[in-house]
Amino acid sequence: MTHERTVVRGGLVITAADESHADVLIEGERVVALAATGSDVAAGWQADRTIDATDCYVIPGGVDAHTHMELPFGGTSASDTFETGTRAAAFGGTTTIVDFAVQSVGHSLREGLDAWHEKAQGNCAIDYAFHMIMSDVTEHSLKEMDLLVEEGVTSFKLFMAYPGVFYSDDGRILRAMQRSAANGGLIMMHAENGIAIDVLVEQALAAGHTDPRYHGEVRRELLEAEATHRAIQLARVAGAPLYVVHVSAEQAVAEIAQARDLGLNVFGETCPQYLFLSTDNLAEPDFEGAKYVCSTPLRPKEHQAALWRGLRTNDLSVVSTDHCPFCFVGQKELGRGDFSKIPNGLPGVENRMDLLHQAVLDGHISRRRWIELACATPARMFGLYPRKGTIAPGADADVVIFDPQERYTMSAATHHMNVDYSAYEGREVTGRARTVLSRGAVVVDGGEYLGHAGHGTFVPRATSQYLL
Ligand code: URP
Ligand code: ZN
Ligand code: ZN
Ligand code: ZN
Repeated sequence: MTHERTVVRGGLVITAADESHADVLIEGERVVALAATGSDVAAGWQADRTIDATDCYVIPGGVDAHTHMELPFGGTSASDTFETGTRAAAFGGTTTIVDFAVQSVGHSLREGLDAWHEKAQGNCAIDYAFHMIMSDVTEHSLKEMDLLVEEGVTSFKLFMAYPGVFYSDDGRILRAMQRSAANGGLIMMHAENGIAIDVLVEQALAAGHTDPRYHGEVRRELLEAEATHRAIQLARVAGAPLYVVHVSAEQAVAEIAQARDLGLNVFGETCPQYLFLSTDNLAEPDFEGAKYVCSTPLRPKEHQAALWRGLRTNDLSVVSTDHCPFCFVGQKELGRGDFSKIPNGLPGVENRMDLLHQAVLDGHISRRRWIELACATPARMFGLYPRKGTIAPGADADVVIFDPQERYTMSAATHHMNVDYSAYEGREVTGRARTVLSRGAVVVDGGEYLGHAGHGTFVPRATSQYLL
């Protein structure tokens, strides 16, 4: 580690709390001070390197709390490795990911976590942390939860969907929630009634409904809402907080809003795909709809207003990507003739910060709310704050110089994710990360990658800092 001093001068510093014209002093890997631009204090700073941020925003690096690099799914694996996926994240102004390690059935949490450390270590461009997917809630894995919390893996995803793969029944869910109530862990829920969905899948296929759009039709809104409701009640019984991932249905938002109105520690996350894409995409002809197959599924456009409202009212608190890319050629194509064999997931780790900035320009959210949803709250929710998610003395120097004027067109031809299509192909946005610092090191500058695999390190997390 060097103690090189860097000053970022002349930008508008935006955090979840404030906007101010300030210079930022970085020493080594940390932010050490902020001072008003033009003040004697700022003018007096001597530095080895000055970064001019005039006409730009200076924002905390994005925290993407939901990614799946190299996830094995449906007989194939997500196409971004930790190396390619974290590099793409950096290009998009995200400097921390929280990826999901997977416990497979018949194996321990430890085995799953070790395997994910192995995949990530030495390969990441930016810092990373892990959640743990629990696919096999047993006496042993319940005990292991306590150990993981101590090691900084403080959140656990359970699935009410995917019977036979990740699925847990209500009893197992309740036990894991009780354990997390005691050890400070946070349960993250994939809330869809997978048992009922599997019946509808079977019936759809029997009726010859094999196209991608049927993926959206069988994964009914009501089955997301029902599972969300059930997860909330189970969490109440256990006395545990609950974080519902990838919320897409208006009726599910309503369940979360109702719980929060009761003062419960229930939180909702949504993703850019639900805010910007819809069942119209799933219905694209010539199997193109497969590019948009993810779960929970894209919904009819009418749901978007409820998601934006939830983001404004804080009934939805976080926007993460659920980045889980599969190439169209050779991967999504596995489901030609049977939508249930299309691997589930969309690419997006590189697009989130810019899409949400576009949402600021479109009047959906404020600039500070942008930073709150994409940086500060995910950091707080998952025990990374204030090291991540803000720009303040003592915080890691994960700093993005963001040009709010740069206009560009999203495209697979120019993105850095290792996937052969863009879910946002042809979409014009205004605003883009120009210079990206990860712990004081410039990793991206003007479209050029200056980082290296292995710069990013594992960040052990505290327990959630965001209870009501
Ligand atoms: O379709 C999705 N979301 N794929 C990733 C796995 C998950 O359920 O988050
Ligand atoms: Zn999920
Ligand atoms: Zn996911
Ligand atoms: Zn380095």
